[in-house]
Amino acid sequence: MSNVVQTLSIIKPDAVERNLDGQIKDIFLNNGFKIVQEKKIQLEKQEAEKFYKVHETKPFYNDLCAYLSSGPIVVMILEKENAIIANRELMGSTNPQEAAEGTIRKKFGISIDKNSVHGSDSTENARIEIDFFFKS
Ligand code: CMP
Repeated sequence: MSNVVQTLSIIKPDAVERNLDGQIKDIFLNNGFKIVQEKKIQLEKQEAEKFYKVHETKPFYNDLCAYLSSGPIVVMILEKENAIIANRELMGSTNPQEAAEGTIRKKFGISIDKNSVHGSDSTENARIEIDFFFKS
């Protein structure tokens, strides 16, 4: 039975700043993802705080929100069979130093903060994150 689903992907400020968004989008397309919608935006810090609310008790929360709102990002709805898991595999570990060869974070990530991409981690969060950016 097919399980084509959608997930939310963000190309973070470190990657957009280095003009890597085209290359990263090509990686998604070459791995069978469809980019259903996309837009380039810059968040206000308050919006980043809302997006990352699940991390609000973490010590890195403030820096994380300041960083996500520090420059333009590209947000995309990606679609594929088992897209949530497939995207997390393609991104690699949160810390680029621990990411496997061939993953986006291994290739482009600079640090655990500047790790180039974000992807939804569950079906529920994918829906919440897609609505956050694309619900009209
Ligand atoms: P992301 O997948 O966007 O989700 C939350 C982000 O917090 C994560 O990527 C990292 O960039 C960032 N982060 C910073 N420090 C940590 C940490 N110690 N553990 C997990 N995530 C961290």
